[in-house]
Amino acid sequence: TDLQNGTVKWVSPSNIALVKYWGKKADQIPENPSISFTLSNCKTVTEISFTKKEDDGFQFDVYFEGKKNEAFRPKIQTFFERIAVYMPFLKDYHFKIETSNTFPHSSGIASSASGMSAIALCLMSIEAQLSQESNALSSDSTYFKQKASFLARLGSGSACRSIEGELVVWGANECIKDSSDLYGVKFTESVHPNFKNYQDTILLVDKGEKQVSSTVGHQLMYGHPFAQERFKQAHDNLAKLKTVLASGDLEAFITIVESEALTLHAMMMTSLPYFILMKPNTLEIINKIWAYREAEHSKLCFTLDAGANVHLLYPEQEKENVLEFIKNELVSYCQNEHYICDEIGLGANQI
Ligand code: PMV
Repeated sequence: TDLQNGTVKWVSPSNIALVKYWGKKADQIPENPSISFTLSNCKTVTEISFTKKEDDGFQFDVYFEGKKNEAFRPKIQTFFERIAVYMPFLKDYHFKIETSNTFPHSSGIASSASGMSAIALCLMSIEAQLSQESNALSSDSTYFKQKASFLARLGSGSACRSIEGELVVWGANECIKDSSDLYGVKFTESVHPNFKNYQDTILLVDKGEKQVSSTVGHQLMYGHPFAQERFKQAHDNLAKLKTVLASGDLEAFITIVESEALTLHAMMMTSLPYFILMKPNTLEIINKIWAYREAEHSKLCFTLDAGANVHLLYPEQEKENVLEFIKNELVSYCQNEHYICDEIGLGANQI
Protein backbone atom coordinates (compact mmCIF):
# COMPACT_ATOMS: atom_id res chain seq x y z
CA THR A 1 0.00 0.00 0.00
CA ASP A 2 0.99 3.65 -0.07
CA LEU A 3 0.71 4.18 3.69
CA GLN A 4 3.21 6.96 4.49
CA ASN A 5 3.56 6.59 8.24
CA GLY A 6 2.05 5.21 11.42
CA THR A 7 2.68 4.11 14.97
CA VAL A 8 2.17 0.80 16.77
CA LYS A 9 2.76 -0.17 20.39
CA TRP A 10 2.99 -3.45 22.30
CA VAL A 11 3.86 -4.54 25.80
CA SER A 12 5.39 -8.00 26.02
CA PRO A 13 6.49 -10.02 29.05
CA SER A 14 9.55 -12.03 29.96
CA ASN A 15 9.23 -15.77 30.61
CA ILE A 16 10.94 -18.34 32.80
CA ALA A 17 11.64 -21.82 31.46
CA LEU A 18 10.72 -24.90 33.50
CA VAL A 19 12.30 -27.26 30.96
CA LYS A 20 15.27 -25.39 29.54
CA TYR A 21 16.29 -24.60 25.99
CA TRP A 22 20.07 -24.96 25.76
CA GLY A 23 21.63 -25.81 22.41
CA LYS A 24 20.46 -24.86 18.94
CA LYS A 25 20.91 -25.79 15.28
CA ALA A 26 21.18 -23.32 12.39
CA ASP A 27 18.43 -20.69 12.05
CA GLN A 28 17.55 -20.67 15.74
CA ILE A 29 16.12 -24.19 15.71
CA PRO A 30 16.23 -25.62 19.24
CA GLU A 31 17.97 -28.94 19.90
CA ASN A 32 15.27 -29.83 22.43
CA PRO A 33 11.77 -28.75 23.41
CA SER A 34 11.26 -26.30 26.28
CA ILE A 35 8.29 -25.02 28.28
CA SER A 36 7.98 -21.78 30.23
CA PHE A 37 5.76 -19.77 32.53
CA THR A 38 4.96 -16.42 30.99
CA LEU A 39 5.59 -13.64 33.53
CA SER A 40 3.25 -10.82 34.41
CA ASN A 41 5.26 -7.85 35.75
CA CYS A 42 8.62 -8.06 33.97
CA LYS A 43 7.75 -6.55 30.61
CA THR A 44 9.10 -4.46 27.76
CA VAL A 45 7.00 -1.64 26.30
CA THR A 46 7.88 -0.88 22.68
CA GLU A 47 6.50 1.72 20.31
CA ILE A 48 7.53 1.76 16.67
CA SER A 49 6.84 4.75 14.40
CA PHE A 50 7.36 4.10 10.72
CA THR A 51 7.85 6.61 7.90
CA LYS A 52 8.09 5.79 4.21
CA LYS A 53 11.54 6.26 2.69
CA GLU A 54 13.08 5.92 -0.78
CA ASP A 55 16.62 4.55 -0.54
CA ASP A 56 17.56 0.89 -0.11
CA GLY A 57 18.74 -0.73 3.12
CA PHE A 58 17.48 -0.83 6.71
CA GLN A 59 17.04 2.45 8.52
CA PHE A 60 16.13 2.66 12.18
CA ASP A 61 16.84 4.58 15.37
CA VAL A 62 16.58 3.03 18.80
CA TYR A 63 15.60 4.89 21.97
CA PHE A 64 15.90 3.07 25.29
CA GLU A 65 14.17 4.65 28.28
CA GLY A 66 13.93 7.95 26.45
CA LYS A 67 17.55 8.19 25.32
CA LYS A 68 19.02 7.38 21.96
CA ASN A 69 20.76 4.02 22.26
CA GLU A 70 23.51 2.65 20.03
CA ALA A 71 24.19 -0.50 22.08
CA PHE A 72 21.09 -2.30 20.78
CA ARG A 73 21.75 -1.38 17.13
CA PRO A 74 23.84 -4.43 16.08
CA LYS A 75 21.31 -6.88 17.56
CA ILE A 76 18.40 -5.20 15.81
CA GLN A 77 20.36 -4.92 12.54
CA THR A 78 21.02 -8.69 12.67
CA PHE A 79 17.38 -9.30 13.55
CA PHE A 80 16.18 -7.22 10.57
CA GLU A 81 18.54 -9.06 8.22
CA ARG A 82 17.23 -12.42 9.43
CA ILE A 83 13.56 -11.55 9.10
CA ALA A 84 13.65 -9.39 5.94
CA VAL A 85 12.53 -12.28 3.70
CA TYR A 86 9.39 -12.63 5.84
CA MET A 87 8.77 -8.88 6.15
CA PRO A 88 9.40 -7.38 2.70
CA PHE A 89 8.31 -3.88 3.83
CA LEU A 90 11.29 -3.50 6.19
CA LYS A 91 13.37 -1.70 3.57
CA ASP A 92 10.56 0.69 2.57
CA TYR A 93 10.30 2.49 5.90
CA HIS A 94 12.40 4.27 8.47
CA PHE A 95 11.63 2.96 11.97
CA LYS A 96 11.86 4.81 15.24
CA ILE A 97 11.94 2.15 17.94
CA GLU A 98 11.23 3.46 21.45
CA THR A 99 11.51 0.89 24.17
CA SER A 100 11.57 0.66 27.96
CA ASN A 101 11.37 -2.06 30.58
CA THR A 102 9.09 -2.27 33.60
CA PHE A 103 11.96 -3.86 35.54
CA PRO A 104 15.08 -1.91 36.43
CA HIS A 105 17.76 -1.49 33.80
CA SER A 106 20.88 -3.60 34.46
CA SER A 107 19.04 -5.80 36.95
CA GLY A 108 20.72 -8.77 35.30
CA ILE A 109 17.29 -9.90 34.10
CA ALA A 110 17.39 -11.06 30.53
CA SER A 111 15.37 -8.52 28.60
CA SER A 112 15.91 -10.23 25.26
CA ALA A 113 12.73 -12.33 25.53
CA SER A 114 10.45 -9.41 26.33
CA GLY A 115 12.37 -6.99 24.10
CA MET A 116 12.54 -9.14 20.96
CA SER A 117 8.94 -10.35 21.29
CA ALA A 118 7.74 -6.73 21.65
CA ILE A 119 9.54 -5.69 18.44
CA ALA A 120 8.23 -8.77 16.60
CA LEU A 121 4.65 -7.94 17.64
CA CYS A 122 5.03 -4.30 16.56
CA LEU A 123 6.30 -5.43 13.16
CA MET A 124 3.32 -7.77 12.82
CA SER A 125 0.96 -4.87 13.56
CA ILE A 126 2.71 -2.83 10.86
CA GLU A 127 2.34 -5.75 8.46
CA ALA A 128 -1.37 -5.80 9.36
CA GLN A 129 -1.74 -2.07 8.67
CA LEU A 130 -0.02 -2.41 5.32
CA SER A 131 -2.03 -5.45 4.33
CA GLN A 132 -5.24 -5.24 2.32
CA GLU A 133 -6.85 -8.20 4.06
CA SER A 134 -6.74 -6.73 7.54
CA ASN A 135 -9.24 -9.28 8.89
CA ALA A 136 -6.84 -12.17 8.36
CA LEU A 137 -4.25 -10.15 10.26
CA SER A 138 -6.23 -9.42 13.41
CA SER A 139 -3.86 -9.65 16.37
CA ASP A 140 -6.04 -12.43 17.82
CA SER A 141 -5.62 -14.63 14.77
CA THR A 142 -3.47 -17.74 14.80
CA TYR A 143 -1.54 -16.37 11.82
CA PHE A 144 -0.64 -13.18 13.72
CA LYS A 145 0.47 -14.91 16.93
CA GLN A 146 2.35 -17.70 15.19
CA LYS A 147 4.21 -15.38 12.90
CA ALA A 148 5.00 -12.98 15.77
CA SER A 149 6.44 -15.92 17.71
CA PHE A 150 8.30 -17.14 14.61
CA LEU A 151 9.89 -13.69 14.17
CA ALA A 152 10.65 -13.34 17.88
CA ARG A 153 12.48 -16.67 17.74
CA LEU A 154 14.78 -15.24 15.10
CA GLY A 155 15.57 -12.34 17.46
CA SER A 156 16.22 -14.50 20.52
CA GLY A 157 15.16 -18.13 20.82
CA SER A 158 13.36 -17.91 24.15
CA ALA A 159 11.51 -14.76 22.99
CA CYS A 160 9.16 -16.95 20.95
CA ARG A 161 7.67 -18.13 24.27
CA SER A 162 6.60 -14.59 25.34
CA ILE A 163 3.67 -13.91 23.01
CA GLU A 164 1.06 -15.85 24.95
CA GLY A 165 0.44 -17.19 28.46
CA GLU A 166 0.28 -18.87 30.81
CA LEU A 167 2.49 -21.75 29.70
CA VAL A 168 4.16 -21.97 26.30
CA VAL A 169 5.93 -24.89 24.61
CA TRP A 170 8.59 -24.40 21.96
CA GLY A 171 10.22 -27.24 20.06
CA ALA A 172 8.71 -30.16 18.17
CA ASN A 173 8.04 -33.13 20.43
CA GLU A 174 5.89 -36.25 20.74
CA CYS A 175 3.71 -35.26 23.66
CA ILE A 176 2.45 -31.78 22.75
CA LYS A 177 0.20 -31.75 19.73
CA ASP A 178 0.98 -28.99 17.18
CA SER A 179 4.33 -28.19 18.83
CA SER A 180 6.91 -26.71 16.49
CA ASP A 181 10.58 -25.84 16.28
CA LEU A 182 9.60 -22.65 14.46
CA TYR A 183 7.39 -20.94 17.06
CA GLY A 184 5.98 -21.29 20.55
CA VAL A 185 2.51 -22.74 21.11
CA LYS A 186 0.22 -22.13 24.03
CA PHE A 187 0.06 -25.13 26.37
CA THR A 188 -3.59 -26.13 26.19
CA GLU A 189 -3.46 -29.39 28.15
CA SER A 190 -5.12 -29.45 31.56
CA VAL A 191 -3.47 -27.48 34.37
CA HIS A 192 -4.31 -28.19 38.01
CA PRO A 193 -5.56 -25.27 40.20
CA ASN A 194 -2.37 -25.65 42.31
CA PHE A 195 -0.64 -23.67 39.55
CA LYS A 196 -3.15 -20.82 39.48
CA ASN A 197 -1.34 -17.48 39.96
CA TYR A 198 1.90 -19.36 40.56
CA GLN A 199 4.47 -16.97 42.00
CA ASP A 200 7.97 -16.14 40.75
CA THR A 201 10.07 -13.94 42.99
CA ILE A 202 13.37 -13.12 41.33
CA LEU A 203 16.33 -12.64 43.65
CA LEU A 204 18.89 -10.38 41.99
CA VAL A 205 22.17 -11.92 43.04
CA ASP A 206 24.32 -10.32 40.39
CA LYS A 207 23.32 -7.42 38.18
CA GLY A 208 26.56 -7.33 36.21
CA GLU A 209 27.14 -8.32 32.62
CA LYS A 210 27.38 -12.10 32.16
CA GLN A 211 30.85 -13.49 31.49
CA VAL A 212 29.56 -15.82 28.80
CA SER A 213 26.58 -14.89 26.60
CA SER A 214 23.84 -17.41 25.95
CA THR A 215 24.77 -17.30 22.24
CA VAL A 216 28.19 -18.72 23.13
CA GLY A 217 26.63 -21.11 25.65
CA HIS A 218 24.31 -22.58 23.00
CA GLN A 219 27.27 -23.02 20.63
CA LEU A 220 29.20 -24.94 23.26
CA MET A 221 26.55 -27.67 23.09
CA TYR A 222 28.07 -28.64 19.71
CA GLY A 223 30.38 -31.54 20.44
CA HIS A 224 29.47 -31.41 24.12
CA PRO A 225 30.08 -34.88 25.59
CA PHE A 226 26.65 -35.04 27.29
CA ALA A 227 24.62 -33.20 24.64
CA GLN A 228 22.61 -36.12 23.23
CA GLU A 229 21.66 -37.41 26.69
CA ARG A 230 20.65 -33.89 27.71
CA PHE A 231 18.42 -33.37 24.67
CA LYS A 232 16.74 -36.71 25.33
CA GLN A 233 16.28 -35.81 28.99
CA ALA A 234 14.49 -32.57 28.05
CA HIS A 235 11.95 -34.59 26.03
CA ASP A 236 11.43 -36.93 29.02
CA ASN A 237 11.09 -34.03 31.46
CA LEU A 238 8.54 -32.29 29.25
CA ALA A 239 6.45 -35.46 29.10
CA LYS A 240 6.68 -35.86 32.89
CA LEU A 241 5.86 -32.20 33.46
CA LYS A 242 2.75 -32.47 31.31
CA THR A 243 1.45 -35.18 33.67
CA VAL A 244 2.46 -33.18 36.74
CA LEU A 245 0.76 -30.00 35.51
CA ALA A 246 -2.47 -32.00 35.17
CA SER A 247 -2.23 -33.83 38.51
CA GLY A 248 -0.99 -30.88 40.59
CA ASP A 249 1.73 -33.05 42.16
CA LEU A 250 3.97 -30.27 43.50
CA GLU A 251 6.66 -32.63 44.84
CA ALA A 252 7.16 -34.02 41.36
CA PHE A 253 7.03 -30.49 39.91
CA ILE A 254 9.85 -29.40 42.23
CA THR A 255 12.04 -32.34 41.24
CA ILE A 256 11.70 -31.67 37.52
CA VAL A 257 12.16 -27.90 37.77
CA GLU A 258 15.17 -27.91 40.10
CA SER A 259 16.83 -30.73 38.17
CA GLU A 260 16.37 -28.77 34.92
CA ALA A 261 17.97 -25.66 36.47
CA LEU A 262 20.98 -27.55 37.82
CA THR A 263 21.36 -29.54 34.60
CA LEU A 264 21.48 -26.29 32.60
CA HIS A 265 24.36 -25.11 34.76
CA ALA A 266 25.97 -28.55 34.70
CA MET A 267 26.08 -28.26 30.89
CA MET A 268 27.98 -24.99 31.29
CA MET A 269 30.42 -26.51 33.75
CA THR A 270 31.09 -29.48 31.46
CA SER A 271 31.50 -27.50 28.21
CA LEU A 272 34.91 -26.86 26.68
CA PRO A 273 35.77 -24.15 27.51
CA TYR A 274 33.88 -24.63 30.80
CA PHE A 275 32.34 -21.76 32.70
CA ILE A 276 30.28 -21.02 35.81
CA LEU A 277 27.52 -18.41 35.92
CA MET A 278 26.35 -19.14 39.46
CA LYS A 279 27.82 -17.03 42.26
CA PRO A 280 28.49 -18.08 45.86
CA ASN A 281 25.22 -16.38 46.88
CA THR A 282 23.32 -18.44 44.30
CA LEU A 283 24.38 -21.58 46.20
CA GLU A 284 23.70 -19.99 49.61
CA ILE A 285 20.14 -19.25 48.46
CA ILE A 286 19.61 -22.77 47.07
CA ASN A 287 20.71 -24.31 50.37
CA LYS A 288 18.43 -21.96 52.32
CA ILE A 289 15.49 -22.92 50.10
CA TRP A 290 16.12 -26.62 50.71
CA ALA A 291 16.32 -26.09 54.48
CA TYR A 292 13.16 -23.97 54.47
CA ARG A 293 11.25 -26.56 52.42
CA GLU A 294 12.23 -29.30 54.85
CA ALA A 295 11.42 -27.28 57.98
CA GLU A 296 8.17 -25.70 56.77
CA HIS A 297 6.79 -28.49 54.57
CA SER A 298 6.72 -25.84 51.87
CA LYS A 299 6.45 -26.32 48.11
CA LEU A 300 8.88 -23.51 47.41
CA CYS A 301 11.46 -24.34 44.74
CA PHE A 302 13.97 -22.55 42.57
CA THR A 303 14.98 -22.26 38.97
CA LEU A 304 17.85 -20.45 37.26
CA ASP A 305 18.30 -18.93 33.85
CA ALA A 306 21.70 -18.37 32.24
CA GLY A 307 23.00 -16.27 35.12
CA ALA A 308 23.42 -15.99 38.88
CA ASN A 309 19.91 -14.80 39.77
CA VAL A 310 17.50 -17.19 41.45
CA HIS A 311 13.81 -17.48 40.54
CA LEU A 312 11.71 -18.65 43.50
CA LEU A 313 8.62 -20.52 42.32
CA TYR A 314 5.77 -21.26 44.73
CA PRO A 315 1.99 -21.57 45.02
CA GLU A 316 0.02 -18.38 45.63
CA GLN A 317 -1.22 -19.59 49.01
CA GLU A 318 2.36 -19.60 50.34
CA LYS A 319 2.95 -16.01 49.27
CA GLU A 320 2.87 -14.36 52.68
CA ASN A 321 5.14 -16.94 54.32
CA VAL A 322 7.64 -17.05 51.49
CA LEU A 323 7.92 -13.25 51.31
CA GLU A 324 8.57 -13.24 55.06
CA PHE A 325 11.27 -15.90 54.58
CA ILE A 326 12.83 -13.87 51.76
CA LYS A 327 12.92 -10.70 53.89
CA ASN A 328 14.35 -12.49 56.90
CA GLU A 329 16.82 -14.86 55.31
CA LEU A 330 17.43 -14.23 51.62
CA VAL A 331 17.61 -10.48 50.91
CA SER A 332 21.09 -10.29 52.36
CA TYR A 333 22.30 -12.48 49.45
CA CYS A 334 20.82 -10.10 46.87
CA GLN A 335 22.76 -7.24 45.34
CA ASN A 336 21.52 -4.07 47.10
CA GLU A 337 18.85 -6.31 48.73
CA HIS A 338 17.04 -6.22 45.42
CA TYR A 339 14.33 -8.68 44.37
CA ILE A 340 11.32 -8.54 42.04
CA CYS A 341 7.90 -10.06 42.73
CA ASP A 342 6.27 -11.57 39.70
CA GLU A 343 3.76 -14.26 38.87
CA ILE A 344 2.49 -16.30 35.97
CA GLY A 345 0.93 -14.07 33.29
CA LEU A 346 -1.21 -14.06 30.19
CA GLY A 347 1.13 -12.82 27.47
CA ALA A 348 1.59 -9.73 25.34
CA ASN A 349 -0.88 -6.88 24.78
CA GLN A 350 -1.33 -4.21 22.19
CA ILE A 351 -1.75 -0.66 23.49
O1 PMV B 1 16.91 -17.09 24.21
P1 PMV B 1 18.36 -17.25 24.51
O2 PMV B 1 19.19 -17.58 23.31
O3 PMV B 1 18.88 -16.08 25.28
O4 PMV B 1 18.53 -18.53 25.47
C1 PMV B 1 18.01 -18.56 26.76
C2 PMV B 1 18.21 -19.90 27.36
C3 PMV B 1 17.79 -20.04 28.82
O5 PMV B 1 17.21 -18.86 29.33
C4 PMV B 1 18.99 -20.38 29.66
C5 PMV B 1 16.79 -21.19 28.94
C6 PMV B 1 15.42 -20.93 28.39
O6 PMV B 1 14.82 -21.91 27.92
O7 PMV B 1 14.92 -19.78 28.46
